[in-house]
Amino acid sequence: MPLTFTRTDLVRSANFIAGQWTPGPGATLAVTDPATGAVIAHVPDSGAPEALAALDAAHAAFPAWKKVPAKQRAQIIKRWNDLVLAHQDDLGRLISREQGKPLAEGKGEVAYAASYIEWFAEEATRMNGEVIPAPVPGRRMFALKEPVGVVAAITPWNFPAAMIARKIAPALAAGCTVVCKPAEDTPLTSLALVLLAHEAGVPAGVLNIVTASREKTPEVVDLWLDDARVRKITFTGSTPVGKHLARRSADTLKKLSLELGGNAPFIVFEDADVDAAVDGFMAAKFRNGGQTCVCPNRVFVHDRVHDEFASKLSARVAALKVGPASDLASQIGPMINDRAVEKIARHVQDAVARGAKVLTGGQRLPGLGPTYYAPTVLVGADASMACSCEETFGPVAPLTRFATEAEVIAAANDTPFGLAAYFYSNDVRRIWRVADALETGIVGINEGVIAAEAAPFGGVKESGYGREGSTHGLDDYLHTKYLCQGQLD
Ligand code: SIN
Repeated sequence: MPLTFTRTDLVRSANFIAGQWTPGPGATLAVTDPATGAVIAHVPDSGAPEALAALDAAHAAFPAWKKVPAKQRAQIIKRWNDLVLAHQDDLGRLISREQGKPLAEGKGEVAYAASYIEWFAEEATRMNGEVIPAPVPGRRMFALKEPVGVVAAITPWNFPAAMIARKIAPALAAGCTVVCKPAEDTPLTSLALVLLAHEAGVPAGVLNIVTASREKTPEVVDLWLDDARVRKITFTGSTPVGKHLARRSADTLKKLSLELGGNAPFIVFEDADVDAAVDGFMAAKFRNGGQTCVCPNRVFVHDRVHDEFASKLSARVAALKVGPASDLASQIGPMINDRAVEKIARHVQDAVARGAKVLTGGQRLPGLGPTYYAPTVLVGADASMACSCEETFGPVAPLTRFATEAEVIAAANDTPFGLAAYFYSNDVRRIWRVADALETGIVGINEGVIAAEAAPFGGVKESGYGREGSTHGLDDYLHTKYLCQGQLD
């Protein structure tokens, strides 16, 4: 059975607060394998007392961690990266076990997570300030970078390793301390990563994590939102929750990084290489079974290449192997839970009721289990359908025909969201025109795989603000302090 662990102590069932594994309130939360519904482990169902203990620890640890020289912080973070990579197989299995993604993707996610940890270990030593030419004699002026303070990281279930890595690594690199609440569906990977960070030498209190159920999460998070000692919130998840975090943290004016919902358009122009567009779409859409904020949600295909694209895409999608991560041949795993499958089924039913046609898929796969949905291609989608207005977050590709560039740009931007967009074209003038016109934080041009540790990841409009990865991803954990020294003549 490929989902067993060589290092079984990576699977933790306690909170980590002030350098200790602490059992929590007594109540527990069952973590299940989405492929089978089997319980894998229990973790604490924490509430306000645990959230407060974690925050007290992070607050107490901040002054000393902030003063640790950047090079030493970098060495610790680098050791964390090395340990994560050394445990890639076990961590990959853990991700696949609690999240459901195929094993190759689980292991790939570990490498992806490590790439952020390594990047921010290196960035820690480059937090340069500025020497500013003084406008008057006898003065020296400086801009220094300082860590913002305690950071609360609230992480999602779709990339349980990568999202925690790209929030916690920059926080630690900047000299911030952290309280973290991982997603209720996938807490085990986060706990394992925290264990490895501790083994790498992250001091007690610098990194604290508490787990909680969906019902208890507001108690944990609201305590952090209301406490002025938390100076920054970093969150990946839904737009309604992001808005709640922004509203509730306003009283203490916390810094915020919000990576929220998307509704990415994928546009295939008439001058595109259709085969390359199909390849790019398969990579962008079906990674993690379509449970990705940046995956294409709406597919616009020019009249002239529509039928060719639709038939080539359907053939590829129909050939995808759906199954549990324990079957090494699986390319699409189960969805995270029943609610996720219900939403996908509702979107497909709504599209069909409004006139869309199913080319492949379009149904649940009860033979595999209640959390499976067949990879689906629809044609004849339009803006009235739920799948065009809401993020489906599943393996469904609704295709819409278009005739002109102006029409498709207007349609692509006709959404409150603005995370990612993709388009395929071989006309260099059009490429720059369309890239400028798309209202998103990320644009893939003739490319479906756009995420990388060196790139600034984040959205505009109701997809949030702040950037993760790149030098900007470190800046989000820093503030600028201006020093002016006079009387120097
Ligand atoms: C996300 O879905 O939130 C992140 C996806 C990525 O890093 O590519």
